[in-house]
Amino acid sequence: MNDLPGKPASASRTTLSHIMTHNDTNLLGTVHGGVIMKLVDDAAGAVAGRHSGGPAVTASMDEMLFLEPVRVGDLVHVRAQCNWTGRSSMEIGVRVLAERWNESTPAGHVGTAYLVFAAVDENGKPRPVPPVIPENERDRRRHQEAQIRRTHRLARRRAIKELRERRAADGMDQQSETV
Ligand SMILES: CC(C)(COP(=O)(O)OP(=O)(O)OC[C@H]1O[C@@H](n2cnc3c(N)ncnc32)[C@H](O)[C@@H]1OP(=O)(O)O)[C@@H](O)C(=O)NCCC(=O)NCCS
Repeated sequence: MNDLPGKPASASRTTLSHIMTHNDTNLLGTVHGGVIMKLVDDAAGAVAGRHSGGPAVTASMDEMLFLEPVRVGDLVHVRAQCNWTGRSSMEIGVRVLAERWNESTPAGHVGTAYLVFAAVDENGKPRPVPPVIPENERDRRRHQEAQIRRTHRLARRRAIKELRERRAADGMDQQSETV
């Protein structure tokens, strides 16, 4: 992808841990999904910055899965690692675990997300990132799955762009969009 030396996935792997409080709840009394998404973005951003050695911005977030509710008092661990790198973009995989405050059971898997970050220079323009080096079979599986997601993201963007161009050429989208 570029001439930068590769970096192992373990070099930027990051875990953020946070105890959930009453400030984090929704109307049902469980933790608001947006609170978890903020932690996910924070952990992924830390990985992207570490891997790329500088600033990086969130380009997209997809497949944010909420598997189990998180409750007040739970200790949430947000584990993130760089799964895949392109020229200037990185897919960061995030796994969310919760230790229940009132149970002596191992932390359970409560969420998963995949984010794409772009490394940027001082002008906010994309800059090259070091290729990530998968170090074990799990890293290699994550790398292969990330490549599949990348292919699908690009195909979806291209298909939607082509549809919009066709509709515009046929005069079907004349009104200016207000929402
Ligand atoms: C992300 C951003 C830097 C991309 O800039 P751009 O001029 O479109 O540059 P490019 O088209 O060359 O994209 C750069 C890389 O990001 C990837 N990318 C851009 N948009 C993407 C998207 N929506 N989903 C996935 N990947 C994306 C491109 O595939 C490319 O990857 P590659 O270099 O590894 O091949 C730019 O759109 C931006 O600054 N967005 C705002 C980011 C931000 O503020 N985030 C905080 C949330 S509000």
